[in-house]
Amino acid sequence: MKRRVAILISGRGSNMSALIRAAAAPDFPAEISLVISNKADALGLERAKASGVTTLVIESKPFGKDRAGFEAVLQAALDQHGIELVCLGGFMRLFTAEFTRSWYGRMLNIHPSLLPSFPGLDPHGQALRAGVKLSGATVHFVIPETDAGPIVMQGAVPVSDHDTADTLSERILEVEHRIYPEALRLLATGKVSIVGDVCKTSGSGPSENFLIAPVVG
Ligand code: GAR
Repeated sequence: MKRRVAILISGRGSNMSALIRAAAAPDFPAEISLVISNKADALGLERAKASGVTTLVIESKPFGKDRAGFEAVLQAALDQHGIELVCLGGFMRLFTAEFTRSWYGRMLNIHPSLLPSFPGLDPHGQALRAGVKLSGATVHFVIPETDAGPIVMQGAVPVSDHDTADTLSERILEVEHRIYPEALRLLATGKVSIVGDVCKTSGSGPSENFLIAPVVG
């Protein structure tokens, strides 16, 4: 049985599209059963509908600071659709600690940096200002702290002296679209487990690849 997944978005939903595309493969262990946006005008909603995925808008704005009130409506929708796993894809609303705890081990997020470096806003700008030569993307389990939690998968890209936040974000986005479906596959097939604060993957070994930057000449 395929695991039933909901994707939560607030914007363009390119990671959502990558997940929907991957899940269309007959042997993918999860199905995207529902896309929920907390913004009625999120571009991703149209993309999801075009792929034939059920969509729902639960506007968070009217709830103001009442996070628990918003989450009660969200949880009811997830229950109604029999959702087992949740993927956040550019979902720009913070959760209460209680909500993240109730989904611990079943809710993933993606962030465009090699966490624990550069959580929060403007991760690409943070990476450029720090002068790192490698950056990337991280899929992790959601915990009460923002952009933190046991790391399921990371992908790295080189950063060049000529990068702007836009060019770096474009390069990292490609990696995001590669690793998010793979991380969901691992979770849906029960290959990952959380040991203390660390996520372990059964049957995995180190990759043979090195990524070195800069390269001169
Ligand atoms: C992605 O780059 C994702 O990693 C980032 O928002 C973007 C959403 O793009 N998420 C965060 O920064 C979480 N802190 P998308 O809507 O095209 O998937």
